Amino acid sequence: MKKLTKVMALVAALALVVMSFAGCGAANDTATTNEAAASTITFGTNAEFPPFEFVSTSGGVIDQFDGIDIAIAKEIAESNGMKAEINNMEFDSLLVALQNGQIDAAIAGMTITDERKESVDFSNPYYTATQVMIVKEDSEVASAADIADKKIAVIQGYTGEVCISDMGYKYESFKKGTDAVMELVNGKADVVVIDLATAEKYISDNEGLKIVKDDNAFEEEQYAIAVAKGNTELLDKINTVIDKMLADGTIADLAAKYAVSSEE
Ligand code: ARG
Repeated sequence: MKKLTKVMALVAALALVVMSFAGCGAANDTATTNEAAASTITFGTNAEFPPFEFVSTSGGVIDQFDGIDIAIAKEIAESNGMKAEINNMEFDSLLVALQNGQIDAAIAGMTITDERKESVDFSNPYYTATQVMIVKEDSEVASAADIADKKIAVIQGYTGEVCISDMGYKYESFKKGTDAVMELVNGKADVVVIDLATAEKYISDNEGLKIVKDDNAFEEEQYAIAVAKGNTELLDKINTVIDKMLADGTIADLAAKYAVSSEE
């Protein structure tokens, strides 16, 4: 009997050690007790996509994740009495991270596509977007057909890359939107194809650039949150909150709050 008590005490002590270890490696917003850890939703994102997700260093707070998606993620967790943990990774890695259970949900301005639907399930859409072209202010590009022979920069794994590839145009792909835009600014690329709201952010950050739209060439896209195939329990929770945030105008307010025009 005594022996058993000792063993149990040891087990409890070990559990405590394991728990405290589990707490240290994780990113921000991490729960510290075991109970809270069980009620954490781990969201994967790629914080290279303003205004949806970016790393903010403002107000003396270093490396905070911010943006429309981050606010939505927090609301989804909080409405369910849970905590949101944000896991920043390459955009390309998000679907795999979902499949292998590294993250519970991916929120990354991610467009619903048939190809992605083969490996993950999507929530109800929460934002309508479209691809646009960023060019130098003096560029004569007026439609997608005009960029056929131009040096086109896209971002690896984004739907913009798929669009240009489907058009049969040659292109170069970059890891980050900012890298592609630098290429344009430096005159090494003629055009960057990327989602509109992000393009607006880039042209406000860099002098001498403009946006050219072509709604015939680039179809409407819908952003949604992805979960592992069959994870209906989490998907239901997500959809309930998204529907509510759409109905009460919260998402529209967030979009307005983070839009370029309302900054500073
Ligand atoms: N909407 C595009 C797509 O789904 C680009 C998304 C990029 N998102 C990001 N967080 N980097 O492919």
